[in-house]
Amino acid sequence: MATASREIRLLMVEDVPQVAQYVRGLLNAQQQIKLLAVLTDGRRVVEQVAQLRPDVLMVDALLQGKVKGLGVVDDVRRAGLTLPLVVITVPQHPIPAPSEHGIDRVLGMPFSGFDLVNTLNAVVAAHEAAGPSGSRVICVFAPKGGVGKTTIAFNLAVALGQAGRRTALVDGSLQFGDLRALLRVPMDAPSILDLPTDKIKEADLQDVLWRDPSGIDILLAPPRVEMFEMVTTRDIDKVLSLLRRVYEAIVIDTATGLSEVTLAFLDAADLVVEIVTYDSTTLYNTRAVAETFRQIGYPPGKVRYLVNRADSSGGMAPEQLAQALGRAPEYEVVSDGRLVVQSNNEGVPFVLASPEAKISADIAALARSVATPVGAAPAMARARG
Ligand SMILES: Nc1ncnc2c1ncn2[C@@H]1O[C@H](COP(=O)(O)OP(=O)(O)OP(=O)(O)O)[C@@H](O)[C@H]1O
Ligand SMILES: [Mg+2]
Repeated sequence: MATASREIRLLMVEDVPQVAQYVRGLLNAQQQIKLLAVLTDGRRVVEQVAQLRPDVLMVDALLQGKVKGLGVVDDVRRAGLTLPLVVITVPQHPIPAPSEHGIDRVLGMPFSGFDLVNTLNAVVAAHEAAGPSGSRVICVFAPKGGVGKTTIAFNLAVALGQAGRRTALVDGSLQFGDLRALLRVPMDAPSILDLPTDKIKEADLQDVLWRDPSGIDILLAPPRVEMFEMVTTRDIDKVLSLLRRVYEAIVIDTATGLSEVTLAFLDAADLVVEIVTYDSTTLYNTRAVAETFRQIGYPPGKVRYLVNRADSSGGMAPEQLAQALGRAPEYEVVSDGRLVVQSNNEGVPFVLASPEAKISADIAALARSVATPVGAAPAMARARG
């Protein structure tokens, strides 16, 4: 993807004021690179990358303090952050085996403005051309309404964002989308309809996605119910392929039932997390849908079952549930009426409001599992062609 047309957001880790000032001076002379912040404390870097979401990180190898320069680099990679990383150093302190630390480029001081801008451009362009490593599209789906799709999709997306993944949440319930109300987004905030239908560029995404304070970006459903017909299955394919280039995780809160548009989302997904509950009608519908998925040709590993309110079994034994599904469900999320209602009413994800709650731990475990491609999972997409 060409990067020349858009701004590159840089985060710098530097504790020598003169060097920071020198870089600021070089960048002041141009428009393309925006310096978001200069961090002087290596311990805050992982948290700040998750919060500020820079396109590229630049670290001084000679950084002093509790966490030194290469320590920062190692922390960033250990946290699973995949953004491009440039290290600056002086000739007297070369970096042995930079690639082993996950460093994309070493820039020797002193450098010119031309060297700096070229290096940042080159690493960002290479990163984007490769696509976000392990970009995953995850549909949260259920054949029945009201089982917790929106609640789980939102909290899952935030948990993925907290784990350092650049994450987008898509309101795939195009007619009766819940996210606008849940997050108190104004009615005039842009929706999927505001994306141009042809030649969608990355910059268009930035204008249309809602930046939620929880750290994720959200593509909203149209603001009025009759507008859903204006979105075609081709639009969905285009939007998702573009989101894949920018985001490492894309979570879709799908509509109930199998409309053409919902099938387009499901086809494009690497993974479908299908919500079930201890309820005989839900289980009946889940089985019916499993048969449809089989006929469509989805490989068996594409769909994983999640039992929501797993501790509210209503007298049904887990074995009965497993028998009805044809296998044991892969995930469980407990019931927590008080916390879920309160956090949904406040538009705050419970994984942030009460990270210590059991339900938050369940979502964190789900996030860890869905973020890791298992076996041939990424190639499962678009089984219907
Ligand atoms: N694990 C849970 N514990 C307690 N309450 C829950 C849980 N999951 C969902 N709920 C509650 O169930 C209700 C329905 O949840 P939600 O709106 O997320 O479902 P949905 O599948 O998106 O519904 P729809 O089909 O209308 O889009 C909400 O009131 C929510 O607070
Ligand atoms: Mg919903």
